[in-house]
Amino acid sequence: MDVCVIGTGYVGLVTGACMAEVGHRVICVDDDHGKIRTLQSGGIPIYEPGLDAMVERQRRGGRLTFTTEISEGIAGATIAFICVGTPPKEDGDADLVAVEKVTRRIAECAASYTLIVQKSTVPVHTGTWIERTLEVYGRTAAGTFDVASNPEFLREGSAVEDFLHPERLVFGVQNSRSEQLLRELYAPIIERVFTCPVHERCPEREPVPVVITDVPSAELIKHASNSFLALKISFINAVADLCERVGADVEQVAHGMGLDRRIGPAFLRAGLGFGGYCFPKDLQAFIAMARRHGMDFALLREVERINQARIDRAVAKLQDRLWNLRDKVVGVLGLAFKPHTDDVRFAPALALIERLEREGVTVRAYDPHANEKAREALPGFTCCPDPYAVAEGAEALVLCTEWPEFAELDWARLRGAMVRPLLIDGRNALDPQKLAAAGFEYVGMGR
Ligand code: UDX
Repeated sequence: MDVCVIGTGYVGLVTGACMAEVGHRVICVDDDHGKIRTLQSGGIPIYEPGLDAMVERQRRGGRLTFTTEISEGIAGATIAFICVGTPPKEDGDADLVAVEKVTRRIAECAASYTLIVQKSTVPVHTGTWIERTLEVYGRTAAGTFDVASNPEFLREGSAVEDFLHPERLVFGVQNSRSEQLLRELYAPIIERVFTCPVHERCPEREPVPVVITDVPSAELIKHASNSFLALKISFINAVADLCERVGADVEQVAHGMGLDRRIGPAFLRAGLGFGGYCFPKDLQAFIAMARRHGMDFALLREVERINQARIDRAVAKLQDRLWNLRDKVVGVLGLAFKPHTDDVRFAPALALIERLEREGVTVRAYDPHANEKAREALPGFTCCPDPYAVAEGAEALVLCTEWPEFAELDWARLRGAMVRPLLIDGRNALDPQKLAAAGFEYVGMGR
């Protein structure tokens, strides 16, 4: 099938590469000329495990091409995915200007039937706006477009595997023609005839469940899912604070809760809270959307408040032990918003660094993959080449991202470089006994 993917961010690039990998001909479009040049010459603008090799393979094989022109991408495509950014506005609502721009351009360029599939995370009723826009600006006869919503549930760091081995697919459609086209497009994934080249996981036997809904319901599924996961994280973080007050261990509490299948163990890891480009922004957009429809989603406002207060908790832990923070040196391990990505957008580590710098702290930090992006986002702090350089002269270390390599550090060496061996484990990722044996004062989150 001929597929056009508009927007080559995380979602668009993964969608384009994976669609090519399962056998379709894909043209990816982006108006960022630099990005397209990079992709055309075999480079890749983001770090995502397995994606570089896949893009390169498909590009060389001729099934994946890149252009800056929507007209070129849309000509001959049966399906066009809209994967452009929907950044938050001042009031938290999603900014849909790019979605509208792209839709107008599609309307002007498409010469034959095209199924327009919205994949960016958007507020409910965006599908209706896309449809109206196509009707108003479309040059071709009415009825040559269908609009569908196919939300993505890709986690950064495992996006390729999530795309090829999804737990479910959601097709929000208006008619059976759109459903059939999407079923055909996703057939190799639904039937699990495909082995993920990144993790080489054995394909399961049951086909992937496909949830067919109307368009607004599909749009809501995405926002409701992300908000619910954020709610789980804030819940366990509130429990972590309570654990500290009553002398319990949140890790044990989460384990005991998670074994109940109705609750499940995922997203019950207490710590510095959630970051990244999805949860904080989707939560805000969901709250704003509810407000626009006359509903105060107070529960989700509280989820947000608890999450923002995680940084205060970490700072309070430092103050409790270091007394005054001004002029002290604090080391930060991990800058990405989670491991296995170089993404620092809304990263708790950066929020913490900003806060510490406001308190007059000198911050030294290191991340295995995100040093460069962090430095671009927040120029003030010292970026170190390795964790041992971070520890140099530090009064405390704060682990902000649970990269697996941090669990294997030479703690005696780190301790030797520090002025005071204090470690705040912002992700409860380290072994307190091992740290204590190496002479550290270990402080976790809720344990
Ligand atoms: C998320 C959703 O999982 C995905 O389905 C959606 O499409 C995009 O948004 P992602 O942002 O890549 O994916 O990250 P995710 O792995 O979900 O983690 C989000 C944040 O929550 C990270 O900062 C992580 O550290 C934090 N987190 C996660 C916790 O603090 N505790 C947990 O138990 C789980």
